[in-house]
Amino acid sequence: MPPTGGIDIEILLEHVSKRYAQAGYAALEDVSLHIDSGSWVFLVGASGMGKTTLLKLLYREELADSGRVLVDGNDVAQMPGSRLRRSMGIIFQTFRLLEKKTAFENIAYGAEVLAMPPDEVRKRTREILELVGLANKAGRMPGELSGGEQQRVAIGRALINRPKLIVADEPTGDLDPENSDRVIQILDTVHREHNVTVLFATHAVDIVNRLQRRVVRLEHGRVVSDALGGYWAGNGEETE
Ligand SMILES: Nc1ncnc2c1ncn2[C@@H]1O[C@H](COP(=O)(O)OP(=O)(O)OP(=O)(O)O)[C@@H](O)[C@H]1O
Ligand SMILES: [Mg+2]
Repeated sequence: MPPTGGIDIEILLEHVSKRYAQAGYAALEDVSLHIDSGSWVFLVGASGMGKTTLLKLLYREELADSGRVLVDGNDVAQMPGSRLRRSMGIIFQTFRLLEKKTAFENIAYGAEVLAMPPDEVRKRTREILELVGLANKAGRMPGELSGGEQQRVAIGRALINRPKLIVADEPTGDLDPENSDRVIQILDTVHREHNVTVLFATHAVDIVNRLQRRVVRLEHGRVVSDALGGYWAGNGEETE
């Protein structure tokens, strides 16, 4: 999906603040950020600094108290959450698969609910199973798959409707280095080959520094640095 001319911004936050009802401080404070279509951005910062909150605003699991959040030109406050969530691929640290459905069914489900023709669903699902390296495990239940395999099913699920944007919240947080690398490889393939925008929240210093992409760092709900290909020293915490 090449830009159609002019600036093509996938995500735009303008002076966004968010305070949870129970909290005495803001989870996000006056955050302004734009992310171009087709780019890859890491969102980093120590625990509790606002990464998940920022991502939740994009798929409208939370609403900002003030400021504007636009995704692909649409103000999320004006859009049904279900439509927003269908337009993007969302990946979580804990895979959140449907436990009573096979790998194939978990991936296919998001297309079925949109009433895509069954032949097309099957074709896409098979292609995705190849992409994530699970063609030979299509019939397994999540409980019969390793953590790394379950996360690859979850990535497949996120890709079924060919999103322009992938939002990933610590997708490698529960994985060992080898499985983390596979996750990165799959996302990078989709990013490069289909110009998909990736916003990736993580604590994984090694991944961030290896990929040398744009790094946005949050501290107490504010953007404190935003650098292209920047080296990140980490949070001074264990890095998963
Ligand atoms: N549902 C909620 N209700 C009240 N406070 C919340 C809620 N969710 C998050 N917070 C608070 O908002 C702040 C930001 O949390 P958030 O989950 O965005 O951080 P994070 O950067 O994703 O952290 P982690 O790296 O641990 O996932 C924290 O102080 C957190 O305690
Ligand atoms: Mg988080």
